[in-house]
Amino acid sequence: MIHKCLFPAAGYGTRFLPATKATPKEMLPVLTKPLIQYGVEEALDAGIHTMAIVTGRGKRAIEDHFDISYELEHQIKGGSKEYLLDEIRSLIDQCTFSYTRQVEMKGLGHAILTGETLIGDEPFAVLLADDLCAADGAGVLKQMIEVYEKYQCSVVAIEEVPMDQTDKYGIIAGDLVDDTNDTYRVTDMVEKPDPKDAPSNLAIIGRYILTPDIFDILKETKPGKGGEIQITDALLEQARQGKVIAYKFKGRRFDCGSVEGFVKATNYFYELGQQ
Ligand code: G1P
Repeated sequence: MIHKCLFPAAGYGTRFLPATKATPKEMLPVLTKPLIQYGVEEALDAGIHTMAIVTGRGKRAIEDHFDISYELEHQIKGGSKEYLLDEIRSLIDQCTFSYTRQVEMKGLGHAILTGETLIGDEPFAVLLADDLCAADGAGVLKQMIEVYEKYQCSVVAIEEVPMDQTDKYGIIAGDLVDDTNDTYRVTDMVEKPDPKDAPSNLAIIGRYILTPDIFDILKETKPGKGGEIQITDALLEQARQGKVIAYKFKGRRFDCGSVEGFVKATNYFYELGQQ
């Protein structure tokens, strides 16, 4: 079983400046809920109750969000707006939240390694809150845990992207696993390749199940693309041993790290709420 979900949440969110100058990008709301709350709900839907959040300077609002605000509760108690806090209160009741700070921004791989102290020696999920996922049935993490249970190795979620966008993602190459049309055994992976160097158009999105040996690999991983320690490079080490599965998830992903994706997500969830 997967008990813990790691949320790397230390990044600056520069694509959303000035909104992210004093507000963590994970706290930007799609309708009335901040992005990270959607992520926590997805993890909970997958049976995960332990949330491990890697934060950085200027991210305290995340901790306050997953805590009780006594003044606010007192103020609205018994009133017509009290129900608006029901959802978040229920999350707080069902989950534990722990935090550690990434002191220097040295990449996603480094952020995940910073989370080792919260995870320990067990397989765990990683969720990047700015990739907001919507699925009709089981959530994406839940789908991935089923895949993990079958193959017992690291799992990355993938989707097809237009070939001219490969330089925005980790891109995999792999062989379809027998009898499936959505599950690949990864043979190669490259962080943000130029289209001409990309091994495919299968892009990793911000959902991972990682086995804990990834931490020792990350400790040895040299800075890669952009001078940062990349989780894609560490995963390639596992893939060389045949220990990474890529899973084409069922559902939709919105890149809420971009204004366009954010607007699409907002419209999607608004229309969903109208139905
Ligand atoms: C990170 C990863 C990349 C992955 C992407 C998914 O990139 O490095 O491999 O495809 O998340 O969102 P970032 O978007 O943080 O630059």
